Amino acid sequence: MSAESTAFPLADYPRTASGSAFDRIAEDYDQIFTDSLIGRAQRDSVWKVLTKTFREHDHVLELNCGTGEDAIFLAGKGISVFACDASRQMIARAEQRLRHISSQLPAVFCELPIERLRELQPKTQFDGAFSNFSGLNCVADLSEVASSLSHLVKRDGRLVLCFSTRFCLIEILHYLVLGQWRKAFRRCKGHTRVTLDDVQFTVYYPTIRQIRRSFAPYFSLYSYTGVGVAVPPSYLERWARRHPDVFRFLRRLEGLVARLPILRSTGDHVLLCFERVSG
Ligand SMILES: C[S@@+](CC[C@H](N)C(=O)[O-])C[C@H]1O[C@@H](n2cnc3c(N)ncnc32)[C@H](O)[C@@H]1O
Repeated sequence: MSAESTAFPLADYPRTASGSAFDRIAEDYDQIFTDSLIGRAQRDSVWKVLTKTFREHDHVLELNCGTGEDAIFLAGKGISVFACDASRQMIARAEQRLRHISSQLPAVFCELPIERLRELQPKTQFDGAFSNFSGLNCVADLSEVASSLSHLVKRDGRLVLCFSTRFCLIEILHYLVLGQWRKAFRRCKGHTRVTLDDVQFTVYYPTIRQIRRSFAPYFSLYSYTGVGVAVPPSYLERWARRHPDVFRFLRRLEGLVARLPILRSTGDHVLLCFERVSG
Protein backbone atom coordinates (compact mmCIF):
# COMPACT_ATOMS: atom_id res chain seq x y z
CA MET A 1 0.00 0.00 0.00
CA SER A 2 1.38 3.44 -0.81
CA ALA A 3 0.67 6.69 0.98
CA GLU A 4 -0.88 7.93 -2.28
CA SER A 5 -3.66 5.37 -1.98
CA THR A 6 -5.21 7.36 0.84
CA ALA A 7 -5.63 11.12 0.77
CA PHE A 8 -4.97 12.76 4.11
CA PRO A 9 -4.65 16.35 5.30
CA LEU A 10 -1.31 17.89 4.56
CA ALA A 11 -2.23 21.33 5.89
CA ASP A 12 -1.03 22.34 9.33
CA TYR A 13 -3.65 22.12 12.06
CA PRO A 14 -3.74 22.89 15.78
CA ARG A 15 -2.12 20.04 17.74
CA THR A 16 -4.31 18.20 20.24
CA ALA A 17 -3.11 18.45 23.84
CA SER A 18 -2.94 14.65 24.08
CA GLY A 19 -0.84 14.45 20.89
CA SER A 20 1.61 17.02 22.27
CA ALA A 21 1.70 15.21 25.61
CA PHE A 22 2.52 11.85 23.99
CA ASP A 23 5.27 13.57 21.95
CA ARG A 24 7.12 13.98 25.24
CA ILE A 25 7.17 10.26 26.05
CA ALA A 26 7.47 8.83 22.52
CA GLU A 27 11.17 8.11 22.85
CA ASP A 28 10.71 6.06 26.02
CA TYR A 29 7.31 4.55 25.21
CA ASP A 30 8.60 1.21 23.93
CA GLN A 31 10.82 0.74 26.94
CA ILE A 32 8.10 1.81 29.41
CA PHE A 33 5.22 -0.11 27.85
CA THR A 34 5.73 -2.00 24.56
CA ASP A 35 8.65 -4.08 25.81
CA SER A 36 7.47 -4.43 29.41
CA LEU A 37 6.26 -7.79 30.75
CA ILE A 38 2.83 -6.34 31.46
CA GLY A 39 2.54 -4.46 28.16
CA ARG A 40 3.53 -7.60 26.27
CA ALA A 41 1.03 -9.76 28.18
CA GLN A 42 -1.84 -7.31 27.62
CA ARG A 43 -0.93 -6.86 23.95
CA ASP A 44 -0.89 -10.64 23.38
CA SER A 45 -4.58 -10.74 24.38
CA VAL A 46 -5.35 -8.01 21.82
CA TRP A 47 -3.31 -9.71 19.08
CA LYS A 48 -5.33 -12.92 19.52
CA VAL A 49 -8.48 -10.98 18.67
CA LEU A 50 -6.88 -8.92 15.87
CA THR A 51 -5.57 -12.03 14.09
CA LYS A 52 -8.99 -13.68 14.34
CA THR A 53 -10.70 -10.57 12.98
CA PHE A 54 -8.49 -9.49 10.07
CA ARG A 55 -7.12 -11.61 7.21
CA GLU A 56 -4.24 -11.44 4.75
CA HIS A 57 -4.87 -8.77 2.05
CA ASP A 58 -7.35 -6.89 4.25
CA HIS A 59 -6.94 -3.11 4.22
CA VAL A 60 -7.23 -1.83 7.77
CA LEU A 61 -7.23 1.60 9.44
CA GLU A 62 -5.44 1.95 12.77
CA LEU A 63 -6.24 4.85 15.10
CA ASN A 64 -3.70 6.11 17.69
CA CYS A 65 -1.03 3.69 16.48
CA GLY A 66 1.74 4.93 18.81
CA THR A 67 5.14 3.56 17.81
CA GLY A 68 3.59 1.14 15.33
CA GLU A 69 3.87 -2.17 17.19
CA ASP A 70 0.47 -3.46 16.06
CA ALA A 71 0.71 -2.09 12.51
CA ILE A 72 4.08 -3.77 11.97
CA PHE A 73 2.77 -7.03 13.46
CA LEU A 74 -0.29 -7.08 11.18
CA ALA A 75 1.69 -5.93 8.12
CA GLY A 76 3.97 -8.92 8.74
CA LYS A 77 0.87 -11.08 8.24
CA GLY A 78 0.12 -9.50 4.87
CA ILE A 79 -2.55 -7.09 6.16
CA SER A 80 -2.25 -3.51 4.79
CA VAL A 81 -2.39 -0.99 7.61
CA PHE A 82 -2.94 2.75 7.31
CA ALA A 83 -1.94 3.88 10.81
CA CYS A 84 -2.57 7.33 12.34
CA ASP A 85 -1.68 9.08 15.56
CA ALA A 86 -1.95 12.62 16.90
CA SER A 87 1.63 12.56 18.16
CA ARG A 88 4.26 13.64 15.61
CA GLN A 89 6.99 11.94 17.64
CA MET A 90 5.10 8.65 17.92
CA ILE A 91 4.69 8.65 14.13
CA ALA A 92 8.40 9.44 13.66
CA ARG A 93 9.30 6.47 15.87
CA ALA A 94 6.89 4.20 13.99
CA GLU A 95 8.39 5.19 10.63
CA GLN A 96 11.90 4.69 11.96
CA ARG A 97 11.01 1.20 13.22
CA LEU A 98 9.37 0.28 9.92
CA ARG A 99 12.46 1.38 7.96
CA HIS A 100 14.62 -0.64 10.34
CA ILE A 101 12.54 -3.83 9.96
CA SER A 102 11.57 -3.64 6.28
CA SER A 103 10.16 -0.85 4.18
CA GLN A 104 8.49 -3.58 2.08
CA LEU A 105 5.87 -4.21 4.77
CA PRO A 106 2.41 -2.89 3.79
CA ALA A 107 2.16 -0.25 6.54
CA VAL A 108 1.88 3.54 6.20
CA PHE A 109 2.05 5.96 9.13
CA CYS A 110 0.35 9.33 9.19
CA GLU A 111 0.06 12.14 11.74
CA LEU A 112 -3.67 12.59 12.18
CA PRO A 113 -5.76 13.07 15.35
CA ILE A 114 -8.87 10.92 15.70
CA GLU A 115 -10.91 14.14 15.88
CA ARG A 116 -10.00 14.81 12.21
CA LEU A 117 -10.75 11.34 10.83
CA ARG A 118 -13.50 12.80 8.70
CA GLU A 119 -10.86 14.39 6.48
CA LEU A 120 -9.49 11.04 5.37
CA GLN A 121 -10.65 10.18 1.88
CA PRO A 122 -9.46 6.70 0.98
CA LYS A 123 -9.93 5.51 -2.61
CA THR A 124 -11.66 2.42 -1.27
CA GLN A 125 -13.29 1.87 2.10
CA PHE A 126 -11.37 -0.08 4.74
CA ASP A 127 -12.17 -3.70 5.65
CA GLY A 128 -12.01 -2.63 9.27
CA ALA A 129 -10.42 -0.41 11.86
CA PHE A 130 -8.86 -0.80 15.25
CA SER A 131 -7.61 1.26 18.16
CA ASN A 132 -5.37 -0.20 20.83
CA PHE A 133 -4.67 0.90 24.36
CA SER A 134 -6.77 3.89 25.15
CA GLY A 135 -6.22 6.46 22.38
CA LEU A 136 -10.02 6.66 22.21
CA ASN A 137 -10.08 7.52 25.92
CA CYS A 138 -8.46 10.84 24.90
CA VAL A 139 -11.44 11.77 22.69
CA ALA A 140 -14.45 13.65 24.12
CA ASP A 141 -17.03 12.82 21.44
CA LEU A 142 -17.24 9.12 20.53
CA SER A 143 -20.42 9.61 18.49
CA GLU A 144 -18.46 11.79 16.09
CA VAL A 145 -15.76 9.09 15.82
CA ALA A 146 -18.42 6.46 15.08
CA SER A 147 -19.94 8.67 12.42
CA SER A 148 -16.55 9.28 10.75
CA LEU A 149 -15.74 5.57 10.84
CA SER A 150 -19.10 4.74 9.26
CA HIS A 151 -17.86 6.49 6.09
CA LEU A 152 -14.47 4.83 6.18
CA VAL A 153 -15.36 1.20 6.94
CA LYS A 154 -17.23 -0.94 4.44
CA ARG A 155 -20.52 -2.73 5.19
CA ASP A 156 -19.88 -5.85 7.34
CA GLY A 157 -16.43 -4.45 8.20
CA ARG A 158 -15.16 -4.85 11.75
CA LEU A 159 -13.96 -2.53 14.50
CA VAL A 160 -11.71 -3.75 17.32
CA LEU A 161 -11.48 -1.05 20.01
CA CYS A 162 -9.49 -1.25 23.23
CA PHE A 163 -10.47 1.26 25.93
CA SER A 164 -9.30 1.88 29.48
CA THR A 165 -12.18 0.81 31.70
CA ARG A 166 -14.25 2.92 34.09
CA PHE A 167 -13.70 0.39 36.91
CA CYS A 168 -10.37 -1.43 37.30
CA LEU A 169 -10.55 -3.78 40.28
CA ILE A 170 -6.78 -4.33 40.69
CA GLU A 171 -6.16 -0.57 40.53
CA ILE A 172 -8.78 0.15 43.18
CA LEU A 173 -7.45 -2.55 45.53
CA HIS A 174 -3.84 -1.53 44.93
CA TYR A 175 -4.37 2.14 45.79
CA LEU A 176 -6.73 1.39 48.69
CA VAL A 177 -4.02 -0.76 50.27
CA LEU A 178 -1.65 2.20 49.87
CA GLY A 179 -4.29 4.49 51.45
CA GLN A 180 -4.55 6.59 48.27
CA TRP A 181 -8.34 6.95 47.96
CA ARG A 182 -8.31 9.60 45.28
CA LYS A 183 -6.12 7.52 42.96
CA ALA A 184 -8.10 4.36 43.76
CA PHE A 185 -11.29 5.88 42.36
CA ARG A 186 -9.79 8.29 39.80
CA ARG A 187 -11.55 6.59 36.85
CA CYS A 188 -14.95 6.22 38.49
CA LYS A 189 -16.25 9.76 37.88
CA GLY A 190 -15.80 9.23 34.13
CA HIS A 191 -12.98 11.64 33.35
CA THR A 192 -9.77 12.91 34.86
CA ARG A 193 -7.03 15.44 34.07
CA VAL A 194 -3.70 13.81 33.29
CA THR A 195 -0.28 15.46 33.16
CA LEU A 196 2.40 13.89 30.96
CA ASP A 197 5.70 15.68 31.28
CA ASP A 198 4.03 19.06 32.08
CA VAL A 199 1.34 18.86 29.35
CA GLN A 200 -2.23 18.44 30.62
CA PHE A 201 -5.13 16.75 28.83
CA THR A 202 -8.40 15.05 29.74
CA VAL A 203 -8.83 11.28 29.76
CA TYR A 204 -12.40 9.98 29.57
CA TYR A 205 -13.59 6.65 30.97
CA PRO A 206 -16.85 5.79 29.17
CA THR A 207 -18.78 2.74 30.33
CA ILE A 208 -19.34 -0.14 27.91
CA ARG A 209 -22.97 0.91 27.63
CA GLN A 210 -21.97 4.47 26.67
CA ILE A 211 -19.50 3.20 24.05
CA ARG A 212 -22.06 0.81 22.63
CA ARG A 213 -24.64 3.59 22.41
CA SER A 214 -22.21 5.98 20.68
CA PHE A 215 -21.43 3.42 17.97
CA ALA A 216 -24.95 1.92 17.72
CA PRO A 217 -26.27 3.87 14.74
CA TYR A 218 -23.63 2.33 12.46
CA PHE A 219 -21.92 -0.50 14.34
CA SER A 220 -23.27 -3.42 16.34
CA LEU A 221 -21.31 -4.79 19.31
CA TYR A 222 -20.89 -8.56 18.89
CA SER A 223 -18.36 -9.41 21.61
CA TYR A 224 -16.15 -7.96 24.28
CA THR A 225 -13.38 -9.29 26.49
CA GLY A 226 -11.33 -7.93 29.35
CA VAL A 227 -7.64 -7.11 28.89
CA GLY A 228 -5.63 -6.91 32.10
CA VAL A 229 -8.24 -8.52 34.34
CA ALA A 230 -5.76 -10.76 36.21
CA VAL A 231 -2.64 -9.16 34.69
CA PRO A 232 -2.17 -5.81 36.51
CA PRO A 233 -1.84 -2.29 35.03
CA SER A 234 1.59 -1.40 33.61
CA TYR A 235 2.66 0.81 36.53
CA LEU A 236 3.06 -2.47 38.50
CA GLU A 237 5.87 -3.60 36.17
CA ARG A 238 8.48 -3.57 38.94
CA TRP A 239 6.29 -5.77 41.08
CA ALA A 240 5.77 -8.16 38.12
CA ARG A 241 9.56 -8.43 37.61
CA ARG A 242 10.11 -9.12 41.29
CA HIS A 243 7.49 -11.92 41.30
CA PRO A 244 7.97 -13.86 38.03
CA ASP A 245 6.14 -16.99 39.24
CA VAL A 246 3.09 -15.05 40.43
CA PHE A 247 3.10 -13.06 37.20
CA ARG A 248 3.25 -16.26 35.09
CA PHE A 249 0.27 -17.56 37.09
CA LEU A 250 -1.67 -14.31 36.50
CA ARG A 251 -0.97 -14.54 32.75
CA ARG A 252 -2.47 -18.03 32.70
CA LEU A 253 -5.41 -16.91 34.84
CA GLU A 254 -6.05 -14.02 32.42
CA GLY A 255 -7.04 -16.52 29.72
CA LEU A 256 -9.70 -17.95 32.05
CA VAL A 257 -11.22 -14.78 33.51
CA ALA A 258 -11.05 -12.33 30.61
CA ARG A 259 -14.28 -13.62 29.08
CA LEU A 260 -16.31 -14.13 32.25
CA PRO A 261 -19.42 -11.95 32.63
CA ILE A 262 -18.95 -9.07 35.12
CA LEU A 263 -15.22 -9.82 35.60
CA ARG A 264 -14.45 -8.98 31.97
CA SER A 265 -15.54 -5.37 32.63
CA THR A 266 -13.24 -4.96 35.65
CA GLY A 267 -9.81 -5.15 33.99
CA ASP A 268 -7.36 -2.39 33.10
CA HIS A 269 -8.77 -2.40 29.54
CA VAL A 270 -11.71 -3.80 27.65
CA LEU A 271 -11.64 -4.90 24.01
CA LEU A 272 -14.87 -4.40 22.06
CA CYS A 273 -15.61 -5.90 18.64
CA PHE A 274 -18.21 -4.24 16.41
CA GLU A 275 -19.63 -5.02 12.98
CA ARG A 276 -20.64 -2.30 10.49
CA VAL A 277 -24.40 -2.36 10.01
CA SER A 278 -26.69 -0.12 8.01
CA GLY A 279 -27.15 3.46 9.08
C1 LIG B 1 -1.24 4.42 25.30
S1 LIG B 1 -0.75 4.92 23.71
C2 LIG B 1 -1.17 3.50 22.73
C3 LIG B 1 -0.33 3.44 21.47
C4 LIG B 1 -0.49 2.20 20.61
N1 LIG B 1 -1.85 2.04 20.13
C5 LIG B 1 -0.06 0.95 21.31
O1 LIG B 1 -0.79 -0.03 21.26
O2 LIG B 1 1.04 0.92 21.88
C6 LIG B 1 -2.03 6.06 23.26
C7 LIG B 1 -1.78 6.69 21.92
O3 LIG B 1 -2.90 7.48 21.59
C8 LIG B 1 -2.43 8.62 20.91
N2 LIG B 1 -3.46 9.65 20.98
C9 LIG B 1 -3.86 10.35 22.06
N3 LIG B 1 -4.84 11.20 21.73
C10 LIG B 1 -5.08 11.03 20.41
C11 LIG B 1 -5.98 11.63 19.48
N4 LIG B 1 -6.83 12.57 19.89
N5 LIG B 1 -5.93 11.22 18.20
C12 LIG B 1 -5.07 10.26 17.81
N6 LIG B 1 -4.18 9.68 18.63
C13 LIG B 1 -4.19 10.05 19.93
C14 LIG B 1 -1.15 8.98 21.62
O4 LIG B 1 -0.32 9.84 20.86
C15 LIG B 1 -0.56 7.61 21.85
O5 LIG B 1 0.26 7.22 20.79
